[in-house]
Amino acid sequence: MPKIIGFGGEEKEFEAGELLRDKCEYMGVPFGCKDGECGCCRIVILEGENNLSKKNDKEKKVLGNDDPKERLACQTKILKGTVKIQYY
Ligand code: FES
Repeated sequence: MPKIIGFGGEEKEFEAGELLRDKCEYMGVPFGCKDGECGCCRIVILEGENNLSKKNDKEKKVLGNDDPKERLACQTKILKGTVKIQYY
């Protein structure tokens, strides 16, 4: 099963194709709108960015870049493997 690991070592398993949103909120990632508008759920991908869905237009607009290491957890899906994240 795909898995997210937080920078404190916390882990959560996901279904392939599942949005990071709900389980990452449980891990402590802060959320606001949950619709790709506010930028509250910005995360940094420390490892495994190729295991995530491609960045969508809302992410590109809110984050202001196309850096695969910077994502919005409410818009990002995990597809496979393990992804390590940092959040604020
Ligand atoms: S919670 Fe607002 S952009 Fe993700």
